[in-house]
Amino acid sequence: MEIKGLEAIDRNKLPTHIAIIMDGNGRWAQKRGLPRIAGHWAGAETLRSIVEFCAELNIKVLTVFAFSTENWKRPQDEVKSILNLLIYYLKKEVDILNKNNIKLMMTGDWQELPPRIREEIKKSIELTSNNTGMILNVALNYGSRREILRACKSISYMVANGKLNPEDIDEKLFKKHLFTADLPDPDLLIRPSGELRLSNFLLWQIAYSELWFCDAYWPDFKKEDLIRAILDYQRRERRFGGLTK
Ligand code: FPP
Repeated sequence: MEIKGLEAIDRNKLPTHIAIIMDGNGRWAQKRGLPRIAGHWAGAETLRSIVEFCAELNIKVLTVFAFSTENWKRPQDEVKSILNLLIYYLKKEVDILNKNNIKLMMTGDWQELPPRIREEIKKSIELTSNNTGMILNVALNYGSRREILRACKSISYMVANGKLNPEDIDEKLFKKHLFTADLPDPDLLIRPSGELRLSNFLLWQIAYSELWFCDAYWPDFKKEDLIRAILDYQRRERRFGGLTK
């Protein structure tokens, strides 16, 4: 099926790293008189199609916000359902990730999750570890302020143990202490659902990212929306604080 706008994308100017806040699942479900979890299931379907599409487009890294450190404040039932959905998705999706040469990676304090979930995640990461194509980076039990504090702590220990001179702390060194140490910063951050917030997502990493918002709830987010985001991105001029050449 033809995808509107696809031919207009400049393949030489693709964002290397796209980050997405998958927002609006709950409202999507409520609007249909469905339980909120139905929205998360529908959101997982959208994720599947966007992951495959990004891999086809040759995007190098796709980071998605699946569960934040703040999401624990939700009713226990919803938290449990989201985590169960995640496990179901990972188990089911590993074959598709392998078929598309996609490597799975996690960002956040996912090691603090219950052992059953942790083990499934480890297994999925392991099963895709030899893939050399796109990286699907899932932010799970992730909070950016917490990540920054964690980096500060580990750098402080190095200083306290005499392994690092405070004068040598620079952006490059700081980055090495973030979960995303080995990834390029996102070029494009997408947030659907009409909310214009960053919600504690990748605050260090998105310093120079282009931001793109749309009104569709995540379960309604289509490949065409991603194309619109990429086309807008390609029309923007990134100066990184400098001047136009
Ligand atoms: C935000 O919508 C979404 C979440 C907190 C969960 C996102 C999870 C998925 C899309 C499930 C699949 C994920 C993976 C990695 C398999 P919201 O509930 O805050 O929506 P609302 O703002 O309308 O209430």
